[in-house]
Amino acid sequence: MPSAVSVIQAPRGTFDVLPDDAARRAVLEDRAKKILGAAGYRRIETPTFEATELFARGVGEATDIVRKEMYTFDDGGGRSLTLRPEGTAPVCRAYLQHGMHKLPQPVKLWYLSSFFRSEAPQRGRYRQFWQVGAEAIGSDAPETDAELIVLLADLLQALGVGETRLRLSSLGTPETRAEYRAELVAYLRAHREQLSPDVGARIQLNPMRAFDASDPGTRAVMKGAPTLLGRLAPDDAQHFTRVRELLDDAGVRYELDPTLVRGLDYYTRTVFEFASDALGAQSGLGGGGRYNGLIELLGGAPTPASGWAAGVERMLIAAGELPVAPELVDLFVALGAPDRAPTGFELANDARRAGLSAQLELTGRSLKGQLKHADRLGARYVAIVGEEGRASLRNMATREQDELQLAAVIPTILRGSRLA
Ligand code: HAM
Repeated sequence: MPSAVSVIQAPRGTFDVLPDDAARRAVLEDRAKKILGAAGYRRIETPTFEATELFARGVGEATDIVRKEMYTFDDGGGRSLTLRPEGTAPVCRAYLQHGMHKLPQPVKLWYLSSFFRSEAPQRGRYRQFWQVGAEAIGSDAPETDAELIVLLADLLQALGVGETRLRLSSLGTPETRAEYRAELVAYLRAHREQLSPDVGARIQLNPMRAFDASDPGTRAVMKGAPTLLGRLAPDDAQHFTRVRELLDDAGVRYELDPTLVRGLDYYTRTVFEFASDALGAQSGLGGGGRYNGLIELLGGAPTPASGWAAGVERMLIAAGELPVAPELVDLFVALGAPDRAPTGFELANDARRAGLSAQLELTGRSLKGQLKHADRLGARYVAIVGEEGRASLRNMATREQDELQLAAVIPTILRGSRLA
């Protein structure tokens, strides 16, 4: 009879990571760990929620993320907390809080964590999503930026993400940006009637976002807009040239895109974004850049830094099939009769303690049903618990079956494993 109680669904924009998905994510995590670990990046985890001020200051009050996408709540004691919408500000907070500036620089950190943004859900865009991120704090060298970009390119390649596009630009320093900003604001004001109402209303607040707009009117205006790349100060231009040379040497292909804007305010100098056509509308796989002012903004000494984050779900969509290792079951413990359950329970425990993977019959199937189930699980052996300390051990590959003492089951399988 159907239950009268309705089934509760997960909130919109969230999803369950089911066991098959978890196995694919484990492959991704493993590859990220190998690639980033080999370059000296060490794992960090920060809390799921932080003081709201961290993001307001770090990500920027004018950004979409802070203006309308954060899950912010009062902790009951008058403090405003926010579910982290991104990982860079929290990692910088941790760098400062734990005095990591005293460590040899740069401090290289990576994370694989979940983040929260209240966006309109669609394929590849969720309200809780995961990112792999890497941050190198304490180096202004162009080699750091190039190394980070190469590492993300390597990760995407190791995951079998097919064709990607890398867009690259430089935002210069805040001073250059301020001058350029004034120029852009004047240009946008002069073309106000052709802009979308949303862009028009935010000319002063965030003029750079006009490059991101999708409406034809704004796009036409932006074709003729002044670009920041043409106005970089000499040392920023030199830094950027060096990043480009290093990428050329590494054989990483990129497009220069002076209109590249990122949705976060902390960037200085290099910015980049990888995209894949396999993703449709949400084509951004991952992106990042240099953020030389962020640590200071959070109360530390001026500290150069650079990093990126890439969306786990988007990488998995673009990667298609990932070869997932089958989950092994060395032993399935079948019960010759229901009253053998305690003996079977003990055998399964002992097998696991001996280093085997073992499962016990738990639903009262017939013997035939148990063998079928063991087959479905891919069990290498089935031990049918018999009477008076005896068992039948069936090798599922050869279908050979031996009668033996219960105590001999585990040593026999271990011997077989060593031979295999
Ligand atoms: P972001 O571009 O906002 O950068 O996010 C990085 C990646 O996270 C995106 O390219 C996308 O793959 C994924 N992502 C973002 N929002 C969603 C969503 N709603 N659903 C699914 N995936 C999403 C940052 O977060 C910066 N912290 C990157 C960074 C690190 N810059 C310097 N260091």
